[in-house]
Amino acid sequence: MKPFGFPSCLAEYLPDPSEPVDRWYQAANSSNVSTTLRIIEELGLSAPAVLVDPFAGAGSLAVAARRLGVPFLGIECDPVLVSVCMAKIFYAGSDGSDRSARHHESLADESPGQSVLPMGIEPHVALVRELAAKQGHRLTHHDIETDITTLPGSAAGSSMVWGDATQEMSWTDLQRISGQVVIYTSPPFGPASPRSDAEPDLVIQAVDALSNSGLRGPERPPDRRVPYNDLVIAVLRNAEKRFPGARAIIEHEPDDAGLSQLPELVGRIANSTGARVEALFETRRFSARGMLSILVCDL
Ligand SMILES: C[S@@+](CC[C@H](N)C(=O)[O-])C[C@H]1O[C@@H](n2cnc3c(N)ncnc32)[C@H](O)[C@@H]1O
Repeated sequence: MKPFGFPSCLAEYLPDPSEPVDRWYQAANSSNVSTTLRIIEELGLSAPAVLVDPFAGAGSLAVAARRLGVPFLGIECDPVLVSVCMAKIFYAGSDGSDRSARHHESLADESPGQSVLPMGIEPHVALVRELAAKQGHRLTHHDIETDITTLPGSAAGSSMVWGDATQEMSWTDLQRISGQVVIYTSPPFGPASPRSDAEPDLVIQAVDALSNSGLRGPERPPDRRVPYNDLVIAVLRNAEKRFPGARAIIEHEPDDAGLSQLPELVGRIANSTGARVEALFETRRFSARGMLSILVCDL
């Protein structure tokens, strides 16, 4: 398969500090919400039933789902980032109409799994404000409430798993939703990928907030040295079992040595998964590591 250009993708790759809800806290390796939406639209998928991101990070895809008004299903191993995602998915304003409570009521009967009981979103919002303050950015209640007015979104049916995306059990906690499932993800490109590295007190605060929301972490934290291609193969194998028929959009940047992993990855997908690679785009956008490519697979 020959890579080809993605000429109408004009949006930027770095996170947008003015993006409502997403701006509350962005990691250095967070995605740009408008770019992800543009790519989803370019692929003819602008009306998915659900967005899934197994490497959810600070939740830019959760915000993309909010903008589309569809549920978001995420997996993330870093408790601080899981907490950030919880705030970005579920916070619905300080008027007492906490969306998570309504979500809980609507789903309690059908999905008793731990990932769909996100009660108590305020502590996640408090953590986000502390993280923002550590970045030197004063995030006021007014900013947050303004964003909620701009982007009320629709979180019904959303859930977040604090877990290892390479493990099948993380996926079984994600409920199936009928209709077009779009998996959009940006796996870590190498061991040098930046991460939250929050101070221990914030990690403890995040773990408490997650525990109050009914979330437990993985038995063992994932090995950060797993190479990009191994992560993608493990995730595709889990995704094709849980969401057969889904379309997966996977971001790729050169590895820590500046090399592309794509030629080997495309061969491995054909040999060791049931997924079909449908397209490979070069966005002509560069991060510090080099060209951002988008691999599109049907599961
Ligand atoms: C490139 S970042 C994702 C950035 C995200 N798109 C955002 O906007 O913030 C990759 C994320 O994958 C997470 N991660 C790494 N290995 C993982 C694993 N095995 N399971 C789940 N999450 C993992 C990292 O903690 C990191 O937050």
